[in-house]
Amino acid sequence: MRDLNTRGPTTVRQASTRAWTGLALCLAGLAASSCTNAPLPATALRPSVVGPDYDSYKNACVSAIRGNGGPVMMPDRLQCTEGTVLPITQNDNVIPAQHNSDEHRFTSATQCDRPPLLQLNPKNGQCMPNSTLRVFRVPQEGVDEKDYPYAALLCRNYQFRSADAEKLKPTYDDIAMIVYSPRTTNACFFQKLSDSAAVIRAAAGAEPVVAAVADEALSGANVPSPFSPDASGFWLSPKKMEDLTACTTCHDANPLMRSPYAQQSASGAGYFPARRASQAYGVVGLDYFGEAWRKYHQYFAVSGSDSKTCVTCHSIGPGETSGVFLNYSAGAPAPSQIASAPFDRLHWMPLPLWSGTDQGWHDKYDKSVTKLRVCHDQFSGSKKPDPDCGLTHLLDLYTESGISR
Ligand code: HEC
Ligand code: HEC
Repeated sequence: MRDLNTRGPTTVRQASTRAWTGLALCLAGLAASSCTNAPLPATALRPSVVGPDYDSYKNACVSAIRGNGGPVMMPDRLQCTEGTVLPITQNDNVIPAQHNSDEHRFTSATQCDRPPLLQLNPKNGQCMPNSTLRVFRVPQEGVDEKDYPYAALLCRNYQFRSADAEKLKPTYDDIAMIVYSPRTTNACFFQKLSDSAAVIRAAAGAEPVVAAVADEALSGANVPSPFSPDASGFWLSPKKMEDLTACTTCHDANPLMRSPYAQQSASGAGYFPARRASQAYGVVGLDYFGEAWRKYHQYFAVSGSDSKTCVTCHSIGPGETSGVFLNYSAGAPAPSQIASAPFDRLHWMPLPLWSGTDQGWHDKYDKSVTKLRVCHDQFSGSKKPDPDCGLTHLLDLYTESGISR
């Protein structure tokens, strides 16, 4: 089912799709709410209309994450320092980053085993220490523990800050959060950048590359949760987020991006939500964010038995998961990554890591990787990918109730 948000204030951009969808649902007798002006029932899962202001987005998120379950017990304040410090290693030895005097170890020439894959600042390189990631479950009343929403809080350094300095005053350049309910399959994206970082990110335009050193750093202490009453004082409004590269450019077919760097925060299997191929995933505010976000919110259901080996466990979207990230996972060293690394560090797919011979990996996955590259290139070259790519929109996976099938 496409879109149940058929009433309320809409932007010009959304109005026509909304009207059309509403009419279609109404005619098909699928969504009674599309045919009347009655308020949406409290149980509707994608009910609120997102506008340019933060609070409309927050309210839409709260109800889309909550669904027809009870309240989501998000803590009011979050601490970046409660996350796992993502280690920067060389041959599995952590590069010391405790003291201010360790700064010289982290230059644009520094290489490491598992650099962050999101490009930070070419001037400083990728191997920046003391960023933190915390993935946690948020209790929800009336819902099975296994269905509690996930929250991921990522506090990134684009420049060197020692562990000592972070202890004294936790400070970062980029604080981002994703909240995802495995039950409603909806996800919300929250971002805070220092002003200068935001300007540089915006200027990066179509290039899904981020480059900034913030002049004014962000405090990672007592971060208002995105659902707290005063959250609009911290997190970017949808209007501001529109100036950034769409989150779905990379978080395209799955809400959470798992790089070997991010994976280091995992304390065990199941830490991140498990996923499966062609799984539903809803993005709250997609209508507001428009085509820039919507176009990547798809996946390739590739056909041909040899072409499918990379998409048996999870889907791969037409954004950067089939672009740079596919390449990094299949042998191409990422920026600042040690290029002489062992085979399974450069071929970090599938997971669990490949334990067969190098040739065995190529025999099994090369055709699939090549196919996905072709699909990606056609898509990013604004061509309609050939039919074997099976481009499928994630919007088509929503059920009327929003509950995952
Ligand atoms: C250019 C690609 C790209 C874009 C655009 C992007 N991300 Fe990410 N994101 C990543 C990668 C890659 C990771 C994994 C960490 C790493 O290796 O840098 C990640 C990880 C995250 C995480 C940690 C949880 C997880 O999924 O692993 C959060 C939170 C996050 N991103 C939020 C956002 C938000 C909010 C936006 C939009 C404002 C956004 N991202 C846009 C690439 C991107
Ligand atoms: C045996 C299952 C399996 C297979 C096969 C597999 N992957 Fe993955 N892939 C995973 C898991 C697990 C993750 C981490 C995310 C997670 O925990 O669900 C992942 C994550 C990724 C990511 C990181 C971006 C993201 O969305 O998190 C990319 C890129 C990726 N896979 C590409 C590939 C490619 C290319 C192939 C084929 C060479 C492949 N995968 C085959 C299991 C698999």
